Amino acid sequence: MMDEKFLKLESLRPEIAIVVGTRPGIVKFAPIIHALRNRALAHFVIHTGQHYSPNMDSQFFEDLELPASDYRLEGVADKTTHGGQTAAMLDGIERILMERRPQLVLMGGDANTNLAGALAARKLGIHVGHLEAGERCYDWQVSEEHNRRIIDHISDYLFTTSQKTGEYLNREAVQGKVVETGNTVVDASYQHLEIALCRYGDSIRQQLPPRSYAIMTTHREETVDYPERLRGMLAGAERVAKELSIRVVFLAHPRTQKRFREFELADWACNLAGVELRDGVGYLEFLALLAGARLVMTDSGGVQQEACIHRIPCITMNETTEWTETVEIGANRLVGTDPERISVGATEALRAKVDWQVPFGDGHAKEVAR
Ligand code: UD1
Ligand code: UDP
Repeated sequence: MMDEKFLKLESLRPEIAIVVGTRPGIVKFAPIIHALRNRALAHFVIHTGQHYSPNMDSQFFEDLELPASDYRLEGVADKTTHGGQTAAMLDGIERILMERRPQLVLMGGDANTNLAGALAARKLGIHVGHLEAGERCYDWQVSEEHNRRIIDHISDYLFTTSQKTGEYLNREAVQGKVVETGNTVVDASYQHLEIALCRYGDSIRQQLPPRSYAIMTTHREETVDYPERLRGMLAGAERVAKELSIRVVFLAHPRTQKRFREFELADWACNLAGVELRDGVGYLEFLALLAGARLVMTDSGGVQQEACIHRIPCITMNETTEWTETVEIGANRLVGTDPERISVGATEALRAKVDWQVPFGDGHAKEVAR
């Protein structure tokens, strides 16, 4: 059986495999996993092990009330190249799919985990469904852009978050069926805000009065992997803190912390005036911090969406974004990594109105499950 390279349609079982492995993937899929459970639709979850630190992984399962994943790949965390990491996940996912033979594999977003999941399924003849299909920044320097474009062109079902992304996919003449289902980050946010505030609201208010602080996150390869860009963002954070009299709470992703050490920036990063460096936090604590913030400074896709949903002004410290609708409605400003642009962008963001129409609908996991 193990030499079977392409599974026969009639040998597939009526169940869905969900592939997760990164912090944002767990967030996007949580509402869908709950919706599938409510409808008693047979499914199982494969965790690729791409993210593994408790504050990037198990804390998210706990906060989002998810059962443990059914499978967890070994040996992915120690891979340090895109090829090595993707290959290890592709191999591991393929083995599980050959044994379980689901009819459909779902993955969401644009991390290497998702590329591996889509490719493993496609090669075996299993249907592929991609959540957040059609997001584009049209910049080949962005490694997520490679993944999105490949996944979309090998998917059978492309679940989009907006009309605009559907248009991109039609323009690119993808073969699969494009279905506008909206954005499940919205479901996750609305479903958990109240519980987040109950659990963390008081303790946050004691340390950080509402609207007195900015939340900062960075981790994208095209920003933190370049010493001059990482230095620019640090200097930008210090300028924002000083010029806008605002405390900056910088929740540093493990990749960013690793680069601080490699580029010998760790001491400086820990001692910036008005900037408090912390480890990343779990989903509920993050939501509670975000809800009380005055400003968001980020390069994260998920955080740009969440800032828009909760009407917190956002500056994106990158040259491009796939979430262009947030920029078009005035909820987000692209400022790059230069300290001057970061400071000017933050000033403008704080002056602007926060009355934008949220472009992501009001929750769509049920629609994806249907
Ligand atoms: C990945 C995704 C990115 C996504 C991000 C979400 C790719 C190419 N990139 O980037 O699209 O936005 O996840 O957070 O798939 N590390 C830990 N603990 C962890 C995870 C990572 O210490 O739990 C460290 C390791 O040193 C690792 C480095 O962070 O080498 C980078 O991790 P990796 O998963 O390769 O990429 P991310 O930057 O997390
Ligand atoms: N997030 C979190 N704690 C943090 C930083 C981010 O819970 O300290 C959540 C955030 O709410 C969002 C998700 O992580 O849902 C975004 O993931 P990330 O920024 O790692 O990746 P991206 O969205 O850019 O792929």
